[in-house]
Amino acid sequence: MQLKISIPASSANLGPGFDSIGLALNRYLTLQVNEQEKWEIEHISHFLPLNTDYEDHFIYKIADTIAHWHNKTLPGCKVIVDSEIPLARGLGSSASAVLAGIELANQLCDLSLTDEQKLLYGTEIEGHPDNIAASLFGGIVVTAMTQNETIDYIKMPTPNLDIVAYIPNFELKTDRARNVLPQSFSIKNATKASAISNVMIASILTGDHTLAGKMMESDLFHEPYRSDLIPNYVMIKQEAKKGGAFGTVISGAGPTMISFTTSGKGAVVSAYMTGKLSKYEVDALKISRNGLRVHKTFSN
Ligand code: HSE
Repeated sequence: MQLKISIPASSANLGPGFDSIGLALNRYLTLQVNEQEKWEIEHISHFLPLNTDYEDHFIYKIADTIAHWHNKTLPGCKVIVDSEIPLARGLGSSASAVLAGIELANQLCDLSLTDEQKLLYGTEIEGHPDNIAASLFGGIVVTAMTQNETIDYIKMPTPNLDIVAYIPNFELKTDRARNVLPQSFSIKNATKASAISNVMIASILTGDHTLAGKMMESDLFHEPYRSDLIPNYVMIKQEAKKGGAFGTVISGAGPTMISFTTSGKGAVVSAYMTGKLSKYEVDALKISRNGLRVHKTFSN
């Protein structure tokens, strides 16, 4: 059996949707899997480090854990990993690798996992469902961890928006970006922060992109605390607006920032911002409507 597993990158939060909203992006992590006697993992992406022993490989360890949770053992195989997602930049590389491990175990051990189980396992490993849900389902997904063992989620109709990403040439670990956040909010501040998120979602759904951008940039949950960790934070927001974006936010925990603009304008904003950010990779992206995909072929 041969398998191809493809998983999109993601951007979490969209400003005020902290730990709840995620968006899938058209950059992908891809695994080519061939069954063979011994385990072997090969990288063919410049975003990935030199190959390590398969037993130390993040994706293998996730797959092995999931197999054990189901009292199974992974059969041997060769996995060729390609990735268009830079590591530790706020584009969901870890969530896509977690999902890759879950799907690998699902396929190799015939676990017949449902989407809900994959979401639950991924969230248990990641700690929050936003990136996992977006990479699993594609589009924009809104999640709520209302009770233990349950994640309520809804995939929104995918809006016609272009995304521009400003990817700096340094990493920012999520733990560090979470450590600067307050442990609690007053009821007054929490109410205001969640109202901003509510209006953002409603304005995306009704196509009021100007209001959506204003709400994205009014986040009170995390951006005010993280802005000091992100070089050029204020300049990027201001310039992107001049270049035609209606809103610019930190992608996930950063350090990448992303702008939202009307469909068809991504290349214009990207060209304008490339001139302002010489040390960044500036990339016009699309929302990936597809999430995790598996293509299986059987040889005789
Ligand atoms: N919602 C998460 C955060 C995404 O902002 O910390 C990054 O893992």
